[in-house]
Order: sequence, then C-alpha cells, then structure tokens
Amino acid sequence: MAVASEGVRPAGAPIIEVEGLTRHYGKLEAVKGISFEVYPGEIFGFLGPNGAGKSTTINMLCTLLRPTAGRARIAGYDLVTQRNKVRESIGLIFQDPSLDDRLTADENLRFHATVYGLPAAVSKQRREELLKMVDLYDRRDQLVRTFSGGMKRRLEIARGLLHYPRVLFLDEPTIGLDPQTRLHLWSYILNLRQQKQITMFLTTHYMDEAEYCDRIAIIDHGKIVALDTPSRLKDMVGGDVIRLRTSDNAVAAQQIKEHFGVEPRENKGELVFEIAGGEELVPRIVEKVTARIASISVRRPTLDDVFIKLTGREIRDEEADARELMRGFMRSRRWGRR
Ligand SMILES: Nc1ncnc2c1ncn2[C@@H]1O[C@H](COP(=O)(O)OP(=O)(O)OP(=O)(O)O)[C@@H](O)[C@H]1O
Ligand SMILES: [Mg+2]
Repeated sequence: MAVASEGVRPAGAPIIEVEGLTRHYGKLEAVKGISFEVYPGEIFGFLGPNGAGKSTTINMLCTLLRPTAGRARIAGYDLVTQRNKVRESIGLIFQDPSLDDRLTADENLRFHATVYGLPAAVSKQRREELLKMVDLYDRRDQLVRTFSGGMKRRLEIARGLLHYPRVLFLDEPTIGLDPQTRLHLWSYILNLRQQKQITMFLTTHYMDEAEYCDRIAIIDHGKIVALDTPSRLKDMVGGDVIRLRTSDNAVAAQQIKEHFGVEPRENKGELVFEIAGGEELVPRIVEKVTARIASISVRRPTLDDVFIKLTGREIRDEEADARELMRGFMRSRRWGRR
C-alpha cells in the first residue's frame, strides 16, 4: 500500500500534536499508532470508511477514551496528564445527536454553560451571540423536538462553542442530513473559522465535504494512509480519470496499454485508467481502440479516486450506505417515540 508523503506544513507551532496514538478494544486494534499535527486555524479532516477508527481517534483526543499507547498534546496540554486543561480547550460535536429535545434551544445552551461554570452574565451574552451566529435566535425558546436535523446540528455547534474552545472537534457533523442542509451547515463552519479563527478537527466519509478541509488525513483500518491538501492528494492519482465501456474490454485494454503506456483496470464492466490531459486524448483513444466503444467519459480525479488508488477499494460501499440509512431510520423512530 502506498503512503503519500506529507505536503508543505503550515507555519507556526501546532495546536494538536499526535504521536503514535493507539487504541485497542480487546484484540481489535482500532487505531494503530497514528501521528500527525494540526496547526492553529486549520480545518483538518479525517476521511475514511465505516470502522476506520475516526470516532475512536476523536474520542481519545477529547479525553473521552484512554489511549492504549502513544501521546498527544492539545493547545500544549498533555492528553493524559492534563485532562482538565485539555477539556477546557476543546469543544465537541458527537457523531450521534446529543441534545435534550424536551428542552428549548436556549435551555440546552444554558445547561451546557452551567456545566462549564460560566458566570450567568457571560453565559447570557454568549448564548445570545452564538444563537444569532447559527441563525436560531428567533427560535431560542422553542423545544428542540420541533427542530429539523440541520437546525439541531447548528444548535450543537453553538453549544460546542459556548466556552470559547480553541479547538472544535466535529465527528461526522453532517451525517444523515440532506445535501442542501449539508451545504448550508458547511457555510456556517467556514464562516466560523473566519470569525473566530478556531481550529477544527472533523471526521467525514463524504468525499465532497473533505474538499472543504485545508488538509486531510485519509484513514483506513486504523492507519493514516495519506495526509495532504485535497488538491495535492488528487495530484497523486496521476491525471484525469477515463472510463470506457467497450464490446471487448480485453482487446481494448491491450490497445490502450500499447498506445498510451497505461494499464487499465476493469471495474463493474468498465475499463478505468488515469492519464494526464485526458480530454485532449479522447479522440486518439477512440481512434486506437478497435473494439466498439459504448461509452467514454473523462473527469478530474476526486478524493474517492485517491482512496481507491491507495487501498484498492471504494470508500463508500453499498453496505455502508444501507447501514447509514438504517441508522437514520432508527434515529427518527427514537425521536418520534418521545
Ligand atoms: N466500544 C467499542 N468496543 C469495541 N469495538 C469498538 C468500540 N468502538 C468502536 N469499535 C470498533 O473499532 C473500530 C473503529 O471504530 P470507529 O467507531 O472508531 O470507526 P469510525 O471510523 O468512526 O466509523 P463510522 O464511519 O462508522 O463512524 C471498528 O471496528 C469498531 O467496530
Ligand atoms: Mg464514527
């Protein structure tokens, strides 16, 4: 398995430093000695399939789960020996919803402010500021039960920021939301970075979302297999992705290899290969391939292609999609029953 070299590191001292972080669950090694650094103001993403170890990593960094081995410092504080200092420096948005939907939006925030020991006047001022920031000020006195999925997520973000953390951890911030709401939520996240210069560490298995990150670590089976900016990662693919459906893939593959020096692989009845300047090459491909071409497409590489290149697998499989749908369904039933 190829491991990408790390790109240019942003300047300044890192705000998250992770070295050899490991977590076992019994015999299962869920996170296998990962190391990386995150710099102040960065949006840093962990991208990987279900079960890759994303939540386990985030839970360790938030002091909710003890590492089996390795070290980490957040805002200069040691994860294990300075737990309380770490906790004061971070905010967390869980993968699963964690609001009390029998309370109003403002009551949820007030409860959190009390837990963090914010004085009443400070709490009031921040609640107001943050509710305005996530566009929920007008709905502050309504029960969270009546909120849409996107509104709940925005409220969770406001809550995660109440104690003005230096780092905000977001575990799958947009899971289960429709594409439009996801887009909307991202505009809040990007705005937030601009307004508060907050550092964000998030996990996702949505390729398109990972594109918003300044840098991404691709994680698979508990290991970081690549870490870089989205565009540098995509450069690794080595050009545009061409897909070709023909009457005889074996013959076509041979001819492509002969004339263009690349070896196509077969995926679901299609030949797939990467080549620089793909668009200009299409006419030549059509000319050189004697098998009948049913379809041909060219596109810029995506992070999905990077994942395939590194692991030989797609990040999203149908099974995972079904699991997620099911999870959303169970969640809606759980809420419905209250
Ligand atoms: N409490 C636990 N006890 C035992 N095994 C666990 C526990 N939590 C996670 N695991 C296992 O550890 C591995 C990593 O899980 P983790 O939740 O970190 O993955 P993830 O990348 O967050 O996945 P997803 O995209 O589904 O949220 C998986 O194999 C999972 O089954
Ligand atoms: Mg997870």
